[in-house]
Amino acid sequence: MVFNVLLYTSLFVFIFGVICKIYTWFSWEIGFSSRDINRSERLTAAFKGISGTIFSAKILILIKVFILDVVFQKRILKEDFLRWAMHMLIYAGFMLLLLMHALDRHITACLFSEYYSTLNPFFFLRNFFGTMVIAGLAIAIYRRFILKVPRLKTNSMDYYAIIILAVIMVSGFFLEATKITSISDFERMVNEFSDVDEKKDLRALESLWVHEFGTVSPDFKEPFEQKLLEHGREIHETNCAACHSSPKWAFAGYALGNILKPVALSLDRAGGSKILWYIHILACFLGLAYLPFSKMFHIIAGPISLLANAVMEKGKSDPANITTRQVMELDACTHCGACSLRCSAAVAFDALGNENILPSEKMVSLKSLIAGKKLGSMEIKAVQEGICLCTNCDRCTVVCPVGINLKELWLNVREGLIQKGHPEPLLLSPFSFVRGLNQYELPADEYYKPVKAAKQAVAGKFDSLIKQSPLILDGKEVEKFNQLSKDNTFSYCFSCENCTSVCPVVCSFDKPEEALGLLPHQIMRCLGLGLIEMASGASMIWDCLTCYQCQENCPQNVNVTDLFFGLKNLAIKNVKKASSEKELSQRHEA
Ligand code: HEC
Ligand code: SF4
Ligand code: SF4
Ligand code: SF4
Ligand code: SF4
Repeated sequence: MVFNVLLYTSLFVFIFGVICKIYTWFSWEIGFSSRDINRSERLTAAFKGISGTIFSAKILILIKVFILDVVFQKRILKEDFLRWAMHMLIYAGFMLLLLMHALDRHITACLFSEYYSTLNPFFFLRNFFGTMVIAGLAIAIYRRFILKVPRLKTNSMDYYAIIILAVIMVSGFFLEATKITSISDFERMVNEFSDVDEKKDLRALESLWVHEFGTVSPDFKEPFEQKLLEHGREIHETNCAACHSSPKWAFAGYALGNILKPVALSLDRAGGSKILWYIHILACFLGLAYLPFSKMFHIIAGPISLLANAVMEKGKSDPANITTRQVMELDACTHCGACSLRCSAAVAFDALGNENILPSEKMVSLKSLIAGKKLGSMEIKAVQEGICLCTNCDRCTVVCPVGINLKELWLNVREGLIQKGHPEPLLLSPFSFVRGLNQYELPADEYYKPVKAAKQAVAGKFDSLIKQSPLILDGKEVEKFNQLSKDNTFSYCFSCENCTSVCPVVCSFDKPEEALGLLPHQIMRCLGLGLIEMASGASMIWDCLTCYQCQENCPQNVNVTDLFFGLKNLAIKNVKKASSEKELSQRHEA
């Protein structure tokens, strides 16, 4: 009764949660692409897209992805064997337990007419699968807390997932161990399944169970006479053996039972197995009910993301479906940190400490943002910085085990931000470049509006830099500088801002752009655009400490500090040239 009430309540919450989640996939807005597409359009598009895919040759792609990426998790294996082993142990062990053990009445018992949970192979397999999950959890804890994989952040959701799984598994093993040792379970079984009532026979059966099956009896203890055991075995064979394999096959539960032997009797008297049964069942139901609201929801959203990304393509798929997929991807993210490990903007995170720069954390904060969670102005600023500090290098997309197309997601979210009136990131930043490359995907007025706004926002700012510049260069001199600058290393710059993020001079100002004119990455970008005068007008090059940190941290091997030297030398020569020309003309005049 209690069991059923709990089961149906948690099942109800689970289904309700899943429906709520799916509702958000179709109703939450994300970035720029969700404008002008309403919920019903998104639903219709999804329906059309799914049915169109299932009844086409694309179904073969889906099957392939399902087998390789969902069942065998090839993407994780490619990245890191330990992580793959961890995930496979937990996921496969848990799924098999769920099907064989938790749903035994509905699945195993239907498939095998001879099924009893205490009979092999089920008895052994239950322990085997359980041990797999425990081993996987041990690796998870080892990776997070001992190995300390770099940039793998652990948040409350990760703790929750580890703890709930651990409680389910550990209580399950303890429950088995107490049942194996329990004398009251033994007595219950004897009453139920045997017609033995003679004292002598009962004693023989109980002795055999103490001797071989791990039961702990208050009355009978080792050693036993061989004859008594043989008599017990006869009774066992006729009454019990049909449903009982030796508990030694339940190797983990049996070993634990052995350890618990000294306290087994008191545990049994205190109703240990009942208490443990409640803990086990409650943890399972709590896990089930909370699953749609926790990171464990990736069990459902992850495969959908993998399948959707395998058959969807920007430009070919309905934009409404891409929007829906992007919202869903936020649920699919397992917070595994693989993307952050590879992220080329992570140096900026190391320097600035803003977690939102890491793609795995960006996924978390983005979810709060689009869910409409109230964030403080500092938090919003941090999220915005995180979203804009990205080189568009695409490394995150390549490694994501659930196949999230992060590249497209960032692009969409940044465009949304820029269209909302934050044009600054457009200036001398990689986004202006990427946006330029993708401009034909946007209607012309939507492409140019933020560019205009950005120009207005900084009108005059760069003019003054050019005025301040000590240089007046002709074409020849520009060419010479470009050649001198060690094979133009600045042309490799993709404006990741790493140089700026690590610069101690930049860090020492509250408003570095005001104080320094241009920041290191912007200077590199100016050089790339041929704006040498503008670059040399920035006081940054004169305030530089020549610590070489920028150069060392540049993922593109740009000689940032050396280029600053080049600019300074050029400026000094130019000033000399200008003054000597002035001197000459003065002499002539004299
Ligand atoms: C019809 C099948 C069946 C028969 C016959 C049967 N049992 Fe069981 N027994 C089970 C099942 C199923 C469980 C586990 C579920 C439970 O505790 O009700 C179990 C559990 C037990 C347990 C608790 C330990 C554990 O591993 O869960 C003991 C002890 C036990 N049985 C003893 C006996 C004895 C002694 C006999 C013979 C007199 C016997 N059983 C006959 C099916 C049977
Ligand atoms: S695309 Fe951006 S977020 Fe992704 S790895 Fe590159 S820099 Fe990091
Ligand atoms: S986005 Fe992908 S790689 Fe990054 S944390 Fe989420 S699941 Fe892992
Ligand atoms: S110079 Fe290097 S570190 Fe600086 S923005 Fe360019 S690529 Fe990044
Ligand atoms: S060398 Fe200059 S620009 Fe580069 S990090 Fe050091 S102080 Fe900053």
